[in-house]
Amino acid sequence: MEIIEILEEAAKRVYNNVKHLAGTKESGTDHGVGAGGDISRRIDIVAEKTVLDYLREINFECTVFGEECGLVELSTNPRGFIIMDAIDGSTNAVRGLPFFCCSLAFTPEDKLSSVTDGVIMDLHNGDLYSASKGKGAYMNGKKIRVHKEKPIYFVVGVDISGISPDVLPQLAPILSASNHVRHFGAVALELAIFARGLVDVFVDLRRKLRITDVAAGYLIALEAGGYVVDENGMPLDSNLSYDKRISFIAAANKETLVDVMKKL
Ligand code: IPD
Ligand code: CA
Ligand code: CA
Repeated sequence: MEIIEILEEAAKRVYNNVKHLAGTKESGTDHGVGAGGDISRRIDIVAEKTVLDYLREINFECTVFGEECGLVELSTNPRGFIIMDAIDGSTNAVRGLPFFCCSLAFTPEDKLSSVTDGVIMDLHNGDLYSASKGKGAYMNGKKIRVHKEKPIYFVVGVDISGISPDVLPQLAPILSASNHVRHFGAVALELAIFARGLVDVFVDLRRKLRITDVAAGYLIALEAGGYVVDENGMPLDSNLSYDKRISFIAAANKETLVDVMKKL
């Protein structure tokens, strides 16, 4: 079985196991603070257990770098790391807002830039986004591309939740210049819809994102022909660390990226 197929199967199992939970009171039960620093909710725990159980079932030799469970060594001779955000958009999932996903990536090395495979499953409708390095990005098996033509409406995604007051002014020129600003509440799925060409730019400068939030979405966006850089215009990279915080700018083409960077 190819690694991408393993990630896809794990995400499908999460979809089946959390379908009935989303939007229920039970989904939001408090399970203490997870490795990523947020409160783990029941739906997060059920989703992570689904992935871990499946990896154990097929004896996939790896170390899991999970947003809630932390590092879980499933072998003494691992092939690499599974970077797991089993539920991205937990707030939406608990409230029943139909925008949350499962994000899984594989890297043979302890580095974000070494990610070779990424899968994002929309857990509301079962849409599956995937990419393997050098092989393009896909949605439900069909190739996807970022939006390269001049759009009728130029749509900008910006995450400003909990942004610190010193970073907010940096975003003001972008917000003022954009008639169509969107933020849906699950960064991985937002990167997937960027990859699919539904938004032209996606910016998160809060210095809050974790490796788990972006690992799969980063590869899918790049493989769909997008540009994704950090706040200094450099390629995103980091070791797999729970302390690392990330900002990024994703743009559908070079011209747009340069324009956004100039405004910052
Ligand atoms: C969160 C979502 C959200 C973003 C937060 C993330 P979680 O992930 O991606 O859109 O604003 O910064 O932490 O906690 O739902 O996995
Ligand atoms: Ca997340
Ligand atoms: Ca999560």
